[in-house]
Amino acid sequence: MSDIQNPLYGTFVLTIFGATGDLAQNKLFPALFSLFQKKQIGNQFYIVGFSRRDFSDEDFRNYLAEVMTKNGKIKDKKQWEQFVRHIYYQAGNFNEETGYKELIPKLKAFDDEIGACITRVFYLATPPDHYLPILTFLDSTELAEGCGQGSSKWTRIAIEKPFGKDVETAQMLDKKLAEIFEEKQIFRVDHYLEKETVQNLLAFRFANSVFEPIWKNEYIDHVQITWMEKEGVGRRGKFFDGVGILRDVGQNHLMQLLSAIVMEQPRSFEKEAIRDVRAAAIKSLICIEPKNVLENTVRGQYKSYTQEKDVDPHSKTETYVAMKLFLDSPRFKYVPFYLRAAKKMPKEMMEISVVFKQTCHILFKEYGCPEVGNVITFRIQPDEGIRIQVIAKTPGSKLSLETIDMKFAYKEHIEHRISDAYEKVLMDIFSGDQMLFNRSDELFSSWEFITKILDGWKDAAVPLYLYKDGSKGPKEADELIEKDGRKWI
Ligand code: BG6
Repeated sequence: MSDIQNPLYGTFVLTIFGATGDLAQNKLFPALFSLFQKKQIGNQFYIVGFSRRDFSDEDFRNYLAEVMTKNGKIKDKKQWEQFVRHIYYQAGNFNEETGYKELIPKLKAFDDEIGACITRVFYLATPPDHYLPILTFLDSTELAEGCGQGSSKWTRIAIEKPFGKDVETAQMLDKKLAEIFEEKQIFRVDHYLEKETVQNLLAFRFANSVFEPIWKNEYIDHVQITWMEKEGVGRRGKFFDGVGILRDVGQNHLMQLLSAIVMEQPRSFEKEAIRDVRAAAIKSLICIEPKNVLENTVRGQYKSYTQEKDVDPHSKTETYVAMKLFLDSPRFKYVPFYLRAAKKMPKEMMEISVVFKQTCHILFKEYGCPEVGNVITFRIQPDEGIRIQVIAKTPGSKLSLETIDMKFAYKEHIEHRISDAYEKVLMDIFSGDQMLFNRSDELFSSWEFITKILDGWKDAAVPLYLYKDGSKGPKEADELIEKDGRKWI
């Protein structure tokens, strides 16, 4: 729980920088509206959109209503009307002080209305190149101080991924944050950490006694993590072209999925205990040195990518990455991990498969063992659930074997409806709970790993394979795993 709860718990003012951007429109505002409808954020809150467009409060409310209606997010107009009264707007250029200065009296008016200092949350939902100027102005205008001033800093800062572009820029950004805020005020967001299915992974591993004893190299043959989206870059061409899938998804979501699989049991279910084991898991990655990227990584680009809006027509940015890596941990020594992330795939599929060593042949070789033995698959989304594959005897007088599935599907448990991860991101920020937010050491370790690959890719001899839109990606990614005698699941 929070270290910095103020007396008016549940009362907050949330300023969203980049309020007309993709993230705010598609994730933050829908999540806020949903929380409001579920009565999880009460009635004493204020949301201020901060962006460049010259909107009044009313313009912004109308603009949001239009976008949210188009996206099918407003089912109950009456509720929307009540919700939208909590929304305000501040026009401003992120690189100029004016907008920030104008924000000061607005936030003060909210405090006056309530008659107390309200917790201020500043949410950086802009492209990452705006983070430093925004932080600088939050500091110089003393907005970061909040109305409490000094010791009673009732402000929080939420900062989206990618957190930097490489190790060096991540460290710079972190230094800047630390100059302005205390660690307990900083929320480094990776919404995959907040996904129901990712959290359940920890319960599955540590609340059941049947899995943990076999969670090691003696039994596990390899692990596959697949993150595939059907969509291309859509409206985010400009942002994505400067980033690529390795930074956009690899450095954060893939690393967090991996850490949930490999982390050691935490000493308790407390914030720092969980963050400690997560950080240690990521630290144990053995870096792929630049000279080895050709052998251990594959990068690709979908064919229509360079015709996407706001993308450089000569762009070499990757929209597909596959890699093979190992960990420096006694538990996972010599276990290969195959990871891939891609856009413009045949379908959306995010899942982790833990593939166990085959023992079927010891007794049953002559009766024909099925190709697939024991695999535990965690389906992160869609069709959230867990599948355990086991070998069983096919009924009949002749002895033969086949692989069968044991399944748990969230959708069959109606009471377990899954909310969007951003609802939890926001609720955790409002309540000051940092457990599912990155600590800097986790980020630096994952950046160290990713930066080496990026360095290796600078070599022109490392190809960028083109793949057909909607295909399974470059065949070289299949070869990456097949040369080890394995297959993508
Ligand atoms: C974001 C990435 O972090 O996650 C996007 O920047 C990606 O490229 C998105 O589309 C996917 O999020 P979700 O929650 O829909 O899986």
